[in-house]
Amino acid sequence: MKKNWSRRGFLEAAGTVVAAGAVAGASTANAAEEAPRGKIKIVGVCCSPRKGKTTAAAMQICLDAAKAVSPEVEVELIELAGLKIPGGVAAGVPLEPGEKDDFPALAEKLGSPAVAGIVVGTPVYFGNMSSLCKALIDRCMTFRKNNFGLSNKVGGVLAVGAARNGGQELTTQSVLAALLCQEMIVVGDGKPTAHIGGTLINDGKDSISGDEFGTATAKNLGRRVAEVALLVKRPK
Ligand SMILES: Cc1cc2nc3c(=O)[nH]c(=O)nc-3n(C[C@H](O)[C@H](O)[C@H](O)COP(=O)(O)O)c2cc1C
Repeated sequence: MKKNWSRRGFLEAAGTVVAAGAVAGASTANAAEEAPRGKIKIVGVCCSPRKGKTTAAAMQICLDAAKAVSPEVEVELIELAGLKIPGGVAAGVPLEPGEKDDFPALAEKLGSPAVAGIVVGTPVYFGNMSSLCKALIDRCMTFRKNNFGLSNKVGGVLAVGAARNGGQELTTQSVLAALLCQEMIVVGDGKPTAHIGGTLINDGKDSISGDEFGTATAKNLGRRVAEVALLVKRPK
């Protein structure tokens, strides 16, 4: 059944007025219902405040594995580093005069019917997600309030910490819980690692390349997100 996604309501709920021309691709329904036949898109959102560092590297590995699943799969990495996502807007706190808000443009991308899967990557900060990641999750309240615009998109999570047992699993589970609340179809890293998502270790020199197991979880996560996204789009 087609969902009644109101573009105007979405933009209002996102908390920022956006010029009409800038939102030509506004979502009208969820990916499973209206994705055009042919290509699907998997978007990776990197929630590290440090651009191009270990979380971004892990996300790239994950997305490359997603792309390798099928020529139908397109991928895009979005780094939140440098973007402004005021979390308080989700709770009705207005923007300060002149305060920047990059969330509406991001939300337009995430809500697009072409996006069949979303991978969230975050560094581990004190055993949990980064504040940037939490702000993103809180702002996604707008999807819940507007007919669950992320419904049936496939969701996966990876976390990069500096320590073994530094909180990667707890962090991953925290983000997965938020994706469940969006009626997303959440998956973990696929076999043979097959646990709750990507769990990687920064070697202390801002590299994950020596973390064989962790990079395998990132790859298996990307593959699993793409495989399930294709299944959702074209049920057998
Ligand atoms: C404020 C802060 C808190 C951190 N807390 C943890 C932690 O609890 N567990 C852990 O394993 N690593 C922790 N780290 C290390 C980062 O998770 C790690 O360096 C990660 O690779 C950073 O990701 P990035 O390279 O994408 O910025 C912390 C780093 C910072 C800056």
